[in-house]
Amino acid sequence: MTEHLNELDIRYSEACDRNKQPIAKVLDEVLPEEGRVLEIGCGTGQHAVYFAETFAGIEWIPADRPGRLESIKARRQQTDLPNLAEPVALDLFDEDWEVEGVDALVAVNVLHIAPWEATGRLFAHADELLDDDGVIYIYGPFRDEERELEPSNRKFDRMLQSRDPQMGLRLRQDVEEKAAEHGFRLTADEPMPANNRSLVWKRG
Ligand SMILES: C[S@@+](CC[C@H](N)C(=O)[O-])C[C@H]1O[C@@H](n2cnc3c(N)ncnc32)[C@H](O)[C@@H]1O
Repeated sequence: MTEHLNELDIRYSEACDRNKQPIAKVLDEVLPEEGRVLEIGCGTGQHAVYFAETFAGIEWIPADRPGRLESIKARRQQTDLPNLAEPVALDLFDEDWEVEGVDALVAVNVLHIAPWEATGRLFAHADELLDDDGVIYIYGPFRDEERELEPSNRKFDRMLQSRDPQMGLRLRQDVEEKAAEHGFRLTADEPMPANNRSLVWKRG
C-alpha cells in the first residue's frame, strides 16, 4: 500500500536546527567512516536528514515509536539521499528489535522524555546489537553529582516532572551504572551548547 505523506506531516523543531551542527561535529569524531547507524527517537527527522547528508559513508536508519514516524517519512520522501534508510518503528521497551548489523546507536534528547527504565533498555539493546567496536552516542541535558545543576536545566527538569513524574533529567552517574551493567563505559562527556552534554559509550 502506498503511503500518502505531505508537508502537513512534517514537524519542525528549532532546537534541532540549532544543535545539529554541534552534534555532527562530535559524531564526526566517534562514528566510523562507513557503517550503519540506528537513531532512536528520531522525532521530526531533521537530524536524520542532516546526518545522512553530512555522513555519506553511513547508512542512517531513523527509528521512533510506532505512530511517531510520519514526519521522518514525509521528510525522507522529499529528499533523494541514498543513505537515508526507511524509518523503522522501535520502542525501547520492545523486547525484540528487528534490526541487525548496526555499528552505532544515537539517541538525542530521548532519555529525559522516556521513563528511567528506558535507559537500561537502551543499553540492553545496544549490548545485543553492537559488536566489539560499537559506539553509543547520547545527547541531552543531564544532572551530575560533580556539577551544580544549571538554572535553565533545573527549570526544565521541574517542567518535565510536572508534566509527567516519570520524565526528568537523568543523573550521569546513574546512567554510567546502568551502562556498566551491560558492559559499556563512558569514553567522552563533552559540554554542548545550551547546557547539554554529548556522552559517548564503548564496550570495555
Ligand atoms: C524530545 S523528543 C526528541 C526528538 C529528536 N531526537 C530531537 O532531538 O528533536 C523525544 C523522542 O523520544 C522518543 N521516545 C520516547 N520514548 C521512547 C521509547 N520508549 N522508545 C523509543 N523512543 C522513545 C519520542 O517519540 C520522541 O521522538
